[in-house]
Amino acid sequence: MALFIWDDSLATGIEAIDNQHKKLVSLVNQLHDAMRERKAKEVIGGLFTELKDYTVYHFATEERAFKDYGYAAAAEHASSHKRLIDSLDELAQKEARGELAVSVDTLTFLIDWVKTHIMKEDKLYVPTLKGKHIA
Ligand SMILES: [Fe+2]
Ligand SMILES: [Fe+2]
Repeated sequence: MALFIWDDSLATGIEAIDNQHKKLVSLVNQLHDAMRERKAKEVIGGLFTELKDYTVYHFATEERAFKDYGYAAAAEHASSHKRLIDSLDELAQKEARGELAVSVDTLTFLIDWVKTHIMKEDKLYVPTLKGKHIA
């Protein structure tokens, strides 16, 4: 069962961005499933790496668009991205050291972050980026 369900409250209406957000939601769910099913350490570690790499890629897409289209709050938004990457790194390191409790609650932090960031911060750039070419 998916822990994190995509719904339209998360949609920005910018197709390229929404597709990337859906992929992030899917990776969080895959990680959650793997932890719940107590998959091998390598599998879980691999999913953490995949999630981090995809997050870095997604943030780079947004930050490039901010530059291309002159988004006024770009610097604040980028520092919020950086905080998430740091937290993700910390979580992956804890997991690798076996310090992370394998439970449904483990990923609550990630899910809350992704939801809150999309709904509160990403939505602020919609007026600037909507209808623009994002790649
Ligand atoms: Fe985003
Ligand atoms: Fe963002």
